[in-house]
Amino acid sequence: MSKFPPIYYADYLQLESLLNSQKPKSTEYGYKAHDEMLFIIVHQAYELWFKQILHEVDSVNTMFRDDVVDEKSIGIAVSRLHRVTEIQKLLIEQLRVLETMTPLDFLEFRDFLIPASGFQSFQFRLIENKLGLSDEKRIQYNNIDYLNTLEETHRKLILETVNSPSLFELVQKWLERTPFLNSQSFNFWQSYKEAVERMLEHDTKIIMENATLTEKKKEFQLRNIELNRENFEALFDEAKHNELVKEGRRHLSNRSMLAAIFINLYRDEPILHLPFMFLNTLIEMDELFTEWRYRHALMVQRMIGTKIGTGGSSGHQYLMSTVDKHRVFTDLFNLPTFLIPRSELPKLPEELIKELSFNFSNR
Ligand code: HEM
Repeated sequence: MSKFPPIYYADYLQLESLLNSQKPKSTEYGYKAHDEMLFIIVHQAYELWFKQILHEVDSVNTMFRDDVVDEKSIGIAVSRLHRVTEIQKLLIEQLRVLETMTPLDFLEFRDFLIPASGFQSFQFRLIENKLGLSDEKRIQYNNIDYLNTLEETHRKLILETVNSPSLFELVQKWLERTPFLNSQSFNFWQSYKEAVERMLEHDTKIIMENATLTEKKKEFQLRNIELNRENFEALFDEAKHNELVKEGRRHLSNRSMLAAIFINLYRDEPILHLPFMFLNTLIEMDELFTEWRYRHALMVQRMIGTKIGTGGSSGHQYLMSTVDKHRVFTDLFNLPTFLIPRSELPKLPEELIKELSFNFSNR
């Protein structure tokens, strides 16, 4: 016998309130719009999943708030954010269910919704802010601040997130604290710079010796190498890097970028493997949000063409512009620019390899 009182399934899940929370406006106004039920249920399912995503992201943000992040926490963070990415895949797939509703069916009840819109999904805004979408990056439509479209209680909740560190900021701090970047016997960055220079020279030689290229194509490809060299230089020069941050071309601090590169280059070392998985999961999460934005924008075009949205935006056009602009971890996406082949990697000193291994490793 359990020491806890028995509970009935429907009570545990609060089905009474959950299943009585679908109130089609068309029914209320005496119209027949069969598909409004689907429209409501799909949106509600989204909001429930948003709640679960917030639950996971909040727990990860809490773990990363401390000055020292326990190794165990990184494993937990990876598995929780992996859960988020699995939910995101569902969220993308779910649009297909809504797309069984045709534009004509939508028109049966669309006017009843004005000015409500997904634009007012405060949970979606909480997720964006907690991940690190900053106000400067946000696209405004008709000069409408998204906060002004929300009720006071929701606005307050969002303002709290604006004043708390986002996952982006916490990850940046955590990366900045990465040890191993400089040891007394080894200046990694000097060796890395030399390896990069060798790689760029090698690439230049391949272009110069390629007899199939016209002079114009050669010039174009050599210019690209020059741009890459400038990119690298900004990485090794903090002042240049900070300029790029000011211009909005880079977002992570110089030190955190270097740490992320180090983790990526030496991810086969046991201690760096989990941090690498963590960074990769952040990329995956950002990518899936971008994919959702794109899919949602396509669905919107399919549903309302180029009409304005119920929330008053340019609709499809506004949504498409958020696809690229509202990404958070773009610097992690761009990191492969700075990777060099394993064979060219500076060899780490024994003492450092030992530090990067687990105690029981027999290397
Ligand atoms: C018939 C289906 C849908 C249509 C026609 C539609 C249309 C739109 C439009 C036009 C906007 C831009 C703001 C506006 O002017 O209203 C928007 C924003 C938004 N919609 Fe939808 N939507 C649909 C379904 C959904 C679903 C199922 C969700 C899931 C929660 C959703 C979530 C959002 C969110 C979060 C935004 C804000 C996006 C941003 O500002 O980046 N929408 N929607």
